[in-house]
Amino acid sequence: MNIRCARVDDLMSMQNANLMCLPENYQMKYYFYHALSWPQLSYIAEDHKGNVVGYVLAKMEEDPGEEPHGHITSLAVKRSYRRLGLANKMMDQTARAMVETYNAKYVSLHVRVSNRAALNLYKNTLKFEVVDTEPKYYADGEDAYAMRRDLAKWA
Ligand code: ACO
Repeated sequence: MNIRCARVDDLMSMQNANLMCLPENYQMKYYFYHALSWPQLSYIAEDHKGNVVGYVLAKMEEDPGEEPHGHITSLAVKRSYRRLGLANKMMDQTARAMVETYNAKYVSLHVRVSNRAALNLYKNTLKFEVVDTEPKYYADGEDAYAMRRDLAKWA
């Protein structure tokens, strides 16, 4: 298993993995927007044949007046490749790139309140903290936790 920075020719495989793993899906132009605007920040995990088995799609939030911070748009690992540490490693690589390339102070994300696996990963493994609950954030009415991971230790 190998983890590397995502390239433009990975984007269709990333979209395919996203469609298999999550109900939050995006048009191809949104993947291009990430890859062209922040080419250092998105990562893929590939098997020995070069097939994409997981991805993290990430960007910077560039609100004037706010500290520079990254945002995880989407993260998924295909079912048979889970619990191998791939999500953990991809999230660390994107965090490092956010700090090194953009001087990010923290990274944020949203997650469904019912998503036990992702919440375990974010809270226990990666040390994200819940900063807010956003009611009915998702299209089906489920609430989201807004979470943040301090990146000071990466600076
Ligand atoms: N149950 C409990 N804890 C879990 C689980 C689980 N099913 N999966 C991961 N964890 C926790 C564990 O503490 C694990 O460490 P351990 O295996 O040593 O116990 C730790 O997270 C690290 O796990 P990884 O192996 O790095 O995680 P994985 O590569 O399996 O990917 C992910 C986790 C991305 C949540 C995967 O289950 C997945 O793709 N789920 C469907 C899509 C999804 O929910 N994505 C996140 C949505 S939120 C967003 O996109 C911003």
